[in-house]
Amino acid sequence: MQRTVSTTRAIGVAQRVSGFTYAIRNIVAEAKKVEATGRTVRYLNIGDPIPFGFHTPPHLVDAVAGAMRDGQNGYTPSPGILSARDAVARDFTERGFPSTPDRVLLTSGTSEGIELALGALVDAGDEVLVPVPTYPLYTAVLAKLGAKTVFYRTDPARDWQPDLDHLRSLITPRTRALVLIDPNNPTGAVYPRETKLALLELAEHHNIPILSDEVYGDLAYDGPVEPLGRLAPDAAVIAFSSLSKAYLAPGWRGGWMVVGRTPRLDGVLAAIKKLADGRLCSPGPMQFAIAAALTGDRSHQTTFRTELRTRAELTVSRLSAVPGLSCVMPRGAFYAMPKVDLPAGKTDEDYILGLLRATGILCVYGSGFGTDPADGFFRVVFLASPDQLAAIYDDMAAFTSDFLRTA
Ligand SMILES: Cc1ncc(COP(=O)(O)O)c(C=O)c1O
Repeated sequence: MQRTVSTTRAIGVAQRVSGFTYAIRNIVAEAKKVEATGRTVRYLNIGDPIPFGFHTPPHLVDAVAGAMRDGQNGYTPSPGILSARDAVARDFTERGFPSTPDRVLLTSGTSEGIELALGALVDAGDEVLVPVPTYPLYTAVLAKLGAKTVFYRTDPARDWQPDLDHLRSLITPRTRALVLIDPNNPTGAVYPRETKLALLELAEHHNIPILSDEVYGDLAYDGPVEPLGRLAPDAAVIAFSSLSKAYLAPGWRGGWMVVGRTPRLDGVLAAIKKLADGRLCSPGPMQFAIAAALTGDRSHQTTFRTELRTRAELTVSRLSAVPGLSCVMPRGAFYAMPKVDLPAGKTDEDYILGLLRATGILCVYGSGFGTDPADGFFRVVFLASPDQLAAIYDDMAAFTSDFLRTA
């Protein structure tokens, strides 16, 4: 029998969700409104190479399809299949950060690794040092945990390198982790060895673990970046990566994390494994692509890096030529963080929403990555073809000139 519904009151939402923001996807709602008016939107908001014509290497597709056909469609052990964990451990060991399969976990993308590690490290009210601008998952997860993001500056005047003095001044007894993203999203920065050694020294001095986001590690234009842990194999480093970017398979959600060999991390490793048990496993068939990726042909990366450098150079030369715009040259990944000299009272969001409505070009405002809305930064994903990018930058130049004249 159907019961009478006696109230129309909305069901409440947990308070902490209000702090969970992810501008890269949130802004799509605005783009859909623009599309509804009949205008084509050019999406430069999400770092996914696939819609721009880049292809997943066939031997990885074969590995996944083969696994499915072989009946590998059940749950896997929660840390992931041994053959893939072994391949990850060997790969890190060969690159100078010694590891063993028991300190590797396969995760649903780098994203889940980040979430598991923060979940294992951070209590409500604890602090985590995060670069600004940052990839916004860090701030979002910390908001969910009731923890505090403490931003350390990176400096556009110095190729977006971290401001070490600022970072040092932010450490407190509640600091539980330091996040390093190298190569960086959203700035495209690649950190020199001296910078990473200084960060390691600082973190070790205070016994703070470093969460080393290496998802773009193979996409620095001058060649793969060494894992952070190579510089200090006994430091408290947890490294993250995935098939998403350098292996062109973001939808597979095939990621991994390596917990450094220091016994100081044993408790954290056990806590991460405990949390991982609760989510059963990362997508099973995709785990079979990991060994194929790490032990097989990587020649697609050489081509991809060249394509990315070409687009980065085009982006910087075209945008820097626009009066009122400036842009630091990225050294890796597929992002640039240009700056528009905003008139007083205007925000980065005003500029980006204006650009979207006038031209259909969708970028993400810098404040979505933690910068001050008045600073005028925004992020461009430059995966489109050079011809498409050239047309996009023409339209951006025309809009910028109108925006700055009429603002
Ligand atoms: C710096 C950074 N970390 C992590 C991720 C998440 O990647 P994944 O697809 O491996 O979860 C991204 C995705 O854009 C990223 O830019």
